[in-house]
Amino acid sequence: MDQAETLRRLAARKQKQPNAEEGHDIHIMAVTSGKGGVGKSNVTLNTAVALAKRGHNTLILDADMGTANIDILLGIDPRLNLGHVIEGKAGLFEILTKVTDNLYLVPGASGIMDPGYMGIHNLEQLRKDIEQLESMFQYVFIDTAAGVNQMVIQALKGSDRVLLICNDEPTSIVDAYALVKVLYKQDPEAVIQLVVNDVAGEEEAEDVYGKLRAAIQHFLKRDLEYLNHIAHDEVIARGVILQKPFMFTAADSPARGHVETLAEKLESKLKPSHGKGLLQLFQRLIQP
Ligand SMILES: Nc1ncnc2c1ncn2[C@@H]1O[C@H](COP(=O)(O)OP(=O)(O)O)[C@@H](O)[C@H]1O
Ligand SMILES: [Mg+2]
Repeated sequence: MDQAETLRRLAARKQKQPNAEEGHDIHIMAVTSGKGGVGKSNVTLNTAVALAKRGHNTLILDADMGTANIDILLGIDPRLNLGHVIEGKAGLFEILTKVTDNLYLVPGASGIMDPGYMGIHNLEQLRKDIEQLESMFQYVFIDTAAGVNQMVIQALKGSDRVLLICNDEPTSIVDAYALVKVLYKQDPEAVIQLVVNDVAGEEEAEDVYGKLRAAIQHFLKRDLEYLNHIAHDEVIARGVILQKPFMFTAADSPARGHVETLAEKLESKLKPSHGKGLLQLFQRLIQP
């Protein structure tokens, strides 16, 4: 029995559990930013590790089509990825990759994907696979590309909440504002929460929050919710070079504490799920 078959059986067994029938408590979170290089992938990966360590079945879906790199941050080289599923060359369970206990990855497409192209010949099987996948996980992180493009907006619209990552650079703040503006225009119900990354401390994070919030309040007449900050910390850069997320290695560090707090807040600030689910997310990703 190959890994894909094992996972399918596991999913089938979980689906038969009584409470799996009553809608899903799956919670889909998109991690995004206006500007690239602000720490989306690192925040996604390490926060997912933290939630998995807290006992939650967690999935990362690398939806940064073109420059997907969660696999690189993990030092793994999946043979098949989301691109193969979209092209109809592999099934979803063939690409699903175990990272560690409670944590799985749907590796992202590498190279440029033509989002309009879809070669899936067995949509019915894909739909079944997505439903099975849904029954296996409580938390799903979608790591997106930066900026305002239709694929990103579709991923954000398909999520129960959006974690907006921003650092203290003026360009990052301005681009974050631009993204929020477009998202609210297309999806006024969007739940957007800010994570300020790569700052010296709380004060700097509050300054970034204040600036972004003021612009959103003034021009969009909306508010912005603040989640947490993550310090500038060498363990993150080192983890990237070692290709091992620092949540696996760095015993004690400021960033670790912040990521753990963020994971706790994600648990406790869990808004009632919009119940959007994975099926509609995939539909949006595959047919933007
Ligand atoms: N809190 C942090 N402290 C130190 N370096 C960071 C921090 N967050 C991100 N970095 C650095 O920024 C780089 C880009 O991060 P990444 O997660 O790949 O960004 P994105 O996914 O937004 O493009 C990383 O390689 C890392 O070196
Ligand atoms: Mg990234």
